Parts: sequence; structure tokens; C-alpha cells
Amino acid sequence: MTDTTKDRVVIFDTTLRDGEQSPGATMTHDEKLEIAELLDDMGVDIIEAGFPIASEGDFAAVSEIAKRSKNSVICGLARAQLPDIDRCWEAVKNAAQPRIHTFIGTSPLHRAIPNLTKDEMADRIHQTVSHARNLCDNVQWSPMDATRTEWDYLARVCEIAIKAGATTINIPDTVGYTAPRESADLIRRLIAEVPGGDEVVWATHCHNDLGMATANSLAAVEAGARQIECTINGLGERAGNTALEEVVMALKVRGDIMPFDTGIDTRKIMHISRRVATVSGFPVQFNKAIVGKNAFAHESGIHQDGMLKNAETFEIMRPEDVGLAGTSLPLGKHSGRAALRAKLKDLGVDVGDNQLKDIFVRFKELADRKKEVFDEDILALVTAAAEGETDRLQIVSLRVICGTGGPAEAVLEMEVDGEEKTATCEGDGPVDATFKAIRAIHPNKAKLQLYQVNAVTEGTDAQATVSVRLEEDGMIATGQSANTDTVVASAKAYVNALNRLLVRREKAGPGADAREVSYKDV
Ligand code: KIV
Ligand code: ZN
Repeated sequence: MTDTTKDRVVIFDTTLRDGEQSPGATMTHDEKLEIAELLDDMGVDIIEAGFPIASEGDFAAVSEIAKRSKNSVICGLARAQLPDIDRCWEAVKNAAQPRIHTFIGTSPLHRAIPNLTKDEMADRIHQTVSHARNLCDNVQWSPMDATRTEWDYLARVCEIAIKAGATTINIPDTVGYTAPRESADLIRRLIAEVPGGDEVVWATHCHNDLGMATANSLAAVEAGARQIECTINGLGERAGNTALEEVVMALKVRGDIMPFDTGIDTRKIMHISRRVATVSGFPVQFNKAIVGKNAFAHESGIHQDGMLKNAETFEIMRPEDVGLAGTSLPLGKHSGRAALRAKLKDLGVDVGDNQLKDIFVRFKELADRKKEVFDEDILALVTAAAEGETDRLQIVSLRVICGTGGPAEAVLEMEVDGEEKTATCEGDGPVDATFKAIRAIHPNKAKLQLYQVNAVTEGTDAQATVSVRLEEDGMIATGQSANTDTVVASAKAYVNALNRLLVRREKAGPGADAREVSYKDV
């Protein structure tokens, strides 16, 4: 519930733009729609849905998200060029509440890229912001690399953008260079000294290169910024962006010293965090604030004892407040479909009857092999079920012989477009042998960019979640799979990524590239 004595801070989520633009975090069209719906449902005020000029795929996703939006403002990114802005408007205009976000790099290093003088850049800013404002009432402007821009020039260009009709001025710390006191001083000074500064919303957009993104964003808010730009799990290029869950929970838990409200339903945080981790292929670090696996885990005896007497001894927020089920009742092999459905509901996963049937079959197979099936196991099964749907490549069987006596050998049987094929390959370990066998059956040039194994629960019978990221001619696809057998999970994740590459290749047509331009090509 909103406390009317508190100031409202607008949450601007850029998981689908800044987050998705980080190398390897590409999401499919359907995944972007799903994440946008979850963001809208959880109360995100503004969703930056993509960069429409970047590719046909980005344009299609932003347009569809705009059409489907319910409560959130839908924003698209555009460089300071008229065709970019027109394309962005085409994509967002069908939203109930559209926004155009246009930007240009204003620091000396960034000005050198388009080779513009200060005056030429100032003219460009006036022209492009005016153009955007003629199309849309809601225009955001960003001086990229603001924190390394000379003060006089930054103040001058912000004034120009306000005069040209920008309604939000966003101050990006593009390279994660600033620190909390400096972040606050900059915002305070801009609001006080830029003519018209009190008529616009000031936003803060921080990157986490020095681990200060959350602190810098909160400091900016205390100095007068009223929009925080952030991403789920802090996803984003290099060390990422400010994490939505961190700033939102900090404002909630420390409302006593930071009296600001957001419109976020914090109980939806865990679910969207898990979905973003799955679809982006970027797992959440175990000790990550708020959403890490260990964020609410208490291992040591002294901590457990304190927790049992009074949870507040070691907890500053309740697990339920971020959407973790308070009591976790493990399921076992005797649990039925109703218990599974109830558990899924508890975990925030809504499934139709057919999907439930599929997940239930997988659950029974797992419960036969494992004593207890934990929440994380169930979520891994949901992912596996969703991914096994319409694949052209399917694993039929896999046998691997490995040990100390020589190279590992994998005997693999696969269906390729319904036709059964087999291959036997040796390799440097079981995973290498298996991947070689997959390539023998389905030759491809895809490069393995990432291979990552995580155990989702404890014990030697834990499910391993494997993420594989492949790159072929500029197209990137991520595959994931979970199994109690790490080699099987690896094979399935690799095949899953190949299937996604095939789908992307088909959709894009021959010779197509993943992205035609990047937001850095100003
Ligand atoms: O980090 C940055 O400067 C950006 C801008 C495009 C706002 O993401
Ligand atoms: Zn950014």
C-alpha cells in the first residue's frame, strides 16, 4: 500500500534493453513478452522494452509489448538520429502510455565518436528531442557518460533538452565510475542550477563496475532524483546495472531513513528473478542480495538457534516479502498431481493442464531417483518441460564410459527432424565426448561461448542445471537443462541451444545477423 507521507520513486526497468544487450543475454521474442508481462504485473512504472532500430526482432518485440501493456509505460530507445526516433515511435505508439527515450554521448570521449563539436552536438540534441516531442508527449533524454562530462557542458545540454520538450532527464553513469556522494551532488546541483530543472523528472541510471550502482542510485534519490533505472538481477553489460530488487527492498526495509515509496509488489520479485535467470542464461550468484539462493539461508548453529527463537535475530526482511514460500514442504514420490499443482502455485508458476501433465511425468521420474524434491528442483523441471516442446533435434539415448583408464567415450542416439541417427565419439572427459557426438550427428559451426554447471539443491543426488551459450555468425542462443546426471543435463542444454539457433536462423532468413546496429554506434 502506498504511504502518502512518502515521496514516490518511479521504477524504470531496462532488463529488456540494457540487460538484454549484454553479450550472451539475448532472449527470444516469446521470452521478452513473458518478462514484460511479469514486469507489468509486479508494478514496474516504465518498461524499456528494447531498441527498435537495432533489428527487426527488437522492433517486433517492442511493438508487441506495447500492444499488450496494461499499466506500465512502454519505452523504446533511440539514438540522436531522426530515423531512429521515427522507428522507435512506430514501435511504441500502440502502447496505452508510450515513451521515447533518446540519448547521445556527451563526455569528451563520447563526443569524439561522431566527431561533433560541442555546438554541433547541442544543435543535434535540440533537433532530435524536439522531433521526439512532436511525436510523443512523454520524452526522456539521456546524456550518455554524464558522470564524465564537463559540468558546464552537461548543464548546458540538459537545459537544451528541457527547452526542446524532454519530460524526464536521465543522468547515466555509463561506465560505473561515480560514487555515492558524487552521485548525490551531481543530481542536487543539476536540479538547482539548470533552468527548468524543477519542471522535469530527474532519473539515475547506474552501472555496477565498482559495485556501487545501488548505493549511487539511492544517493541520487536522496538528492532529488525520482526515477531509478534498473534491471532484474542487476543484469547488464560488464558488471551490470543497478538491481531492481536491491533498490526496491532497500527503500522498503529502510523507509525510516529513506522515506520513498515504489509501486512494486515485492512478493513477485523471486519469481521474475528466476525467470530472468533462466531465459537469459545468467544464473544468480548464490550470495546475491535479495534473490541469491543463500540470501535467506542460515547455516551455522548459532544462527539457526537464533532464527528459531526469533526470525528477526538474523533477518531484516521476511522471505515472504520477496516471494519466497515461508515454509518449504518438500514433495516426494508419493505426492500427487494436486500437491504438485499447489506447489507450483506457491512458487508463482501458473500452468495449464497439458503442461501440468508433462511436468508431473518429469516429477515422478525425478522423485523415483531422489529422496526429496525441493522447490528449486520443481522450478528446474518447469524449465525443462517448457524447453522440450517443438525441438527439431531430440536426444533419444546417451551412454558414456569414462574413468581413469583412457579417453571418455559417448554413444549417442538422436532424432533429427524425426530421423534417428547414432554416433560414437571419444573425448577429453565425458562432456567433451558427448558434445563431439552431438556435432557428429548435427554438424554445425556454432562456437561454445559458455558452459556452466550449477547444483540446484544439495547432496550427490542434486539436480545439475547446465547453461550452454552458442554463437554462430553473430547469432547467440542459450540452452538450459536440469538433470540429476550432469552429463545428460549438459547434452540436453547443448541440444536445446542448437534448437534455438535453428529457430532463430529460420526466422531471420539466410545470412541474417542478430543485430544490425548497437546503441553504441552513435
Ligand atoms: O549506460 C548508458 O549510458 C545507457 C544509455 C543508453 C542511457 O544505457
Ligand atoms: Zn546503461
